[in-house]
Amino acid sequence: MPIPSGGFVPQHQKEYPGNATPFVLATCIVAAMGGLIFGYDIGISGGVTSMPSFLKEFFPSVYKKEELDTSTNQYCKFNSETVTLFTSTLYVTALLASLVASTVTRKLGRRRSMLFGGLLFCSGAIINAFAQNVAMLIIGRALLGFGVGFANQSVPLYLAEMAPYKYRGALNIVFQLSITIGILVANVVNYFFAKIYDWGWRLSLGGATIPAMIIIIGSIVLPDTPNSLIERGMYDKAIENLRRIRGIKEVDKEFNDLVEASKASNKVDHPWRNLVERKYRPHLTMAIAIPFFQQFTGINIIMFYAPVLFKTIGFHDNASLMSAVITGAFNVLATFVSIYGVDKWGRRLLFLQGGVQMLICQVVVAIFIGVKFGVSGNPAAQLPQWYAMLIVLCICLYVCAFAWSWGPLAWLVPSEIFPLEIRSAAQSINVSVNMFFTFVVAQVFLTMLCHLKFGLFLFFAFFIFVMSVFIYFFLTETKGIPIEEMSIVWKNHWFWCRFIPDNDDNDLEMAKNRQPPKSIN
Ligand code: BGC
Repeated sequence: MPIPSGGFVPQHQKEYPGNATPFVLATCIVAAMGGLIFGYDIGISGGVTSMPSFLKEFFPSVYKKEELDTSTNQYCKFNSETVTLFTSTLYVTALLASLVASTVTRKLGRRRSMLFGGLLFCSGAIINAFAQNVAMLIIGRALLGFGVGFANQSVPLYLAEMAPYKYRGALNIVFQLSITIGILVANVVNYFFAKIYDWGWRLSLGGATIPAMIIIIGSIVLPDTPNSLIERGMYDKAIENLRRIRGIKEVDKEFNDLVEASKASNKVDHPWRNLVERKYRPHLTMAIAIPFFQQFTGINIIMFYAPVLFKTIGFHDNASLMSAVITGAFNVLATFVSIYGVDKWGRRLLFLQGGVQMLICQVVVAIFIGVKFGVSGNPAAQLPQWYAMLIVLCICLYVCAFAWSWGPLAWLVPSEIFPLEIRSAAQSINVSVNMFFTFVVAQVFLTMLCHLKFGLFLFFAFFIFVMSVFIYFFLTETKGIPIEEMSIVWKNHWFWCRFIPDNDDNDLEMAKNRQPPKSIN
């Protein structure tokens, strides 16, 4: 059975005049900074939960187990429900907020959603910095989560709408880049603040107010997107903004298309109901499978718990936090590979190459940890330092593979395959599935490590194998294909073709029959 590689060449490409003006680039970069708040949270909790003074104050039983009982099983040292709850509450509230945010973003504009996100986030950071008990910690994390939900919903949308057509892929990945920068900054902050023994963790948690201020100020000074202004009936302002963004006067064609697209999307009364129609089966499958698989690469085990994991391997406090900084730096650098290659080599190649590399690394890490701790979890003998360094190297190679494949692509691919009439609903599903499984992995990781031991890495290796097979057989290449022609890729696909009715050329017809632009003065 021939399996199309996805080498579909579009028949015609939509072209809008306009430049990548410094104004639009600056605007997109400021907006992409919204990813910082998400990244900062991902990176900060692992380091903080490995700081003895923090554990002593809020989780004394974990502290005692870690500090005093040296004979305890290494795999189970950090296993505590409340510690994981501290990390994972954020993702539950982010999930809820991303559902609410889609309405706020649509009715009040993308900027207001960002502002709202920044304010909630800032209040969470302040509560955390002054926390006196576990309840304050969890409430603070919950508020941070609401902020992240709003930002993750509105920022990618803002970027997609502001970015010049030809640079949309690369600018979308700038959002992921700012997530990785947020993680790295958090790792560095933890490294230094851990040295202030008694209250360094307060500075780490309170530091989140800085990315929050960036998004608050950003959302006040940034212009609203033309799409959002049109959606809210502000046509004059929309065309004025579009001219400014594109740096030219002749924006009629794009403006007319935006108006047309907005009318078409307003006609859809039930995007959620549409989504379950048979012809959207490939889209719905991807909206659920891609974020699910992204989380089952096991990446957040490294992102949340790297310092804890490195301590488990036998590193001291400082070395553990430093290793987290190193993996964080690889995460940032490798994201540039994706920005460079995504429109050259295509999505499938990156997904598959990344998958193979991650799979090999997970198996090797499982073997290394298994040899060191066996099943009992007690280190067999003092293993040389190069042994621990090799584990860190494998983890870095794994992080790199993720950073140029599943990291950015799990956000990019869903955003480009949904047709307009289901885009908002499908995107909400994408974000909430992602948050839900981030929560699940964060919540059960320490317990799973305790029970599955080194086999935990084999567990994720298995999922990486399954997701690579899934991509090979079920995802078509979307590189260089205009969004309105996307339905053809599914129609040409060996499996998905059966779900797309023969007469379903709506999107393509819309593109072909587009009216000549009206003149707008
Ligand atoms: C994922 C996060 C992950 C981050 C790591 C993002 O794409 O959604 O869960 O922590 O990448 O860089």
